[in-house]
Amino acid sequence: MKLDSRRERLLKHTFLDFRQTAEFLEHPLILNRAEGLYCWDIDGRRYFDAISGIFVATLGHGNLRVLDAMRRQMERMTFAPPLHGVSDVTLDYVEKLGSVTPAGLNYVKPFSGGSEATEAAMKFARQYFKQTGQPGKYKFISRYQGYHGSTGAAMSASGTGPRKTKFEPQMPGFLKVFPPTHYRSQFSSWEECNRFAARAFEDVIIGEDPATVAGIIVEPIGNTGGIITPTAEYFQIIREICDRHNVLLIFDEVITGFGKTGRMFAAQTFGVTPDILCCGKGISNGAVPLAAMVAREDFADAFWGRAEDDVQFMHGNTFAGNPLACAAGIAVIDEIVERKLVEHALEIGEYLAGRLESLKRYGVVREVRGRGILRGVELVRNTNTLQPFPELGIALKQTALENGLILRVDPTWFAVSPALIAQQADIDEMFELIERSLVQALDRVGGVPAIA
Ligand SMILES: Cc1ncc(COP(=O)(O)O)c(C=O)c1O
Repeated sequence: MKLDSRRERLLKHTFLDFRQTAEFLEHPLILNRAEGLYCWDIDGRRYFDAISGIFVATLGHGNLRVLDAMRRQMERMTFAPPLHGVSDVTLDYVEKLGSVTPAGLNYVKPFSGGSEATEAAMKFARQYFKQTGQPGKYKFISRYQGYHGSTGAAMSASGTGPRKTKFEPQMPGFLKVFPPTHYRSQFSSWEECNRFAARAFEDVIIGEDPATVAGIIVEPIGNTGGIITPTAEYFQIIREICDRHNVLLIFDEVITGFGKTGRMFAAQTFGVTPDILCCGKGISNGAVPLAAMVAREDFADAFWGRAEDDVQFMHGNTFAGNPLACAAGIAVIDEIVERKLVEHALEIGEYLAGRLESLKRYGVVREVRGRGILRGVELVRNTNTLQPFPELGIALKQTALENGLILRVDPTWFAVSPALIAQQADIDEMFELIERSLVQALDRVGGVPAIA
């Protein structure tokens, strides 16, 4: 894509997320239209959006039901202050979201983005302990390679070094353990490795003193580490640890929520119910900013009292529970449920995984990970040494764009998460673009495709 001087100048007057504009200008991508599984750049070139925006447009871009719901709401009211009033549609959304979350999780606070939801969850946990007789519990344990957002506590809980070290020192009271992938070469089975990684949470809780630990926050499937997908037992062990030490379990389902893993939430996929669930991204299909924190209903008691008791959740945002966003959110859930898209994601996800597995014949794929339509592929120099292959990822990002394909490449792995509406023919089209781009990328880095 060739940029005109005005757009180039304007790009220099803004920031992209987490990336250098000078590098972006070498291969710029400016989009101006999106529909279903595709988006188009300003030159009219079409791209298969294999990552649904960025894990967002789960119903496909421009879902009509969502847009109609927003249009209707726009005619009535687009803003109500969550301070001295609340909109009727916000309450409808509380009911709607609470009807699809795991049992017992239906104390709902809508927000405008994933970082707001995780930040609120940690504040909620701290305040909960302060007013239930355990004011010393304030620490959080999370994982290296995890990402929970860009605000203070969310960033402190994140374990992605380069995204946070520039802002250190981080907030005190945030500790980390490694995800299971970190230890896998030291164990003879993935299951045993997961048991070890899960138990590390308890070691830290005991080492820190359980009376000081408020919560564990984890992504059920970790995107930033390369679609890290632990065993169900890993989460069961963590759940038991939390119960033993009265520590709240927070699932950050900003990516995994709303059908991607083959159930509405990954908590259901892994069969473990957290105390607080944070969601965002696919929650509004990207039509308007929306996110939510959903806590266990019985926690509500700790925040209920007379005004002079001063126990209300001392937190808020101007756009929290915005009526337009809530109208979109209701339509998203109705669409997912009525079109049985969760069940479809489970089925089509198996097909997608099978196709991605076939990339192993090129000798540079270590593993295909994930659940449902959320899948990741780890790239290695060769499958004996298992050395990472970042040059291949960097080349792949480029060849994919040249082939009209948008992927998430990091660069030792790549992820795909097409919209839940994708059919087998769409998966085939996407896979052929991936395979072609991978072969071209291998060629560019001088790797010989070792087709088995
Ligand atoms: C797992 C996870 N949590 C939280 C966030 C933060 O969400 P947002 O960017 O909407 O603030 C993200 C964003 O990518 C995420 O992937």
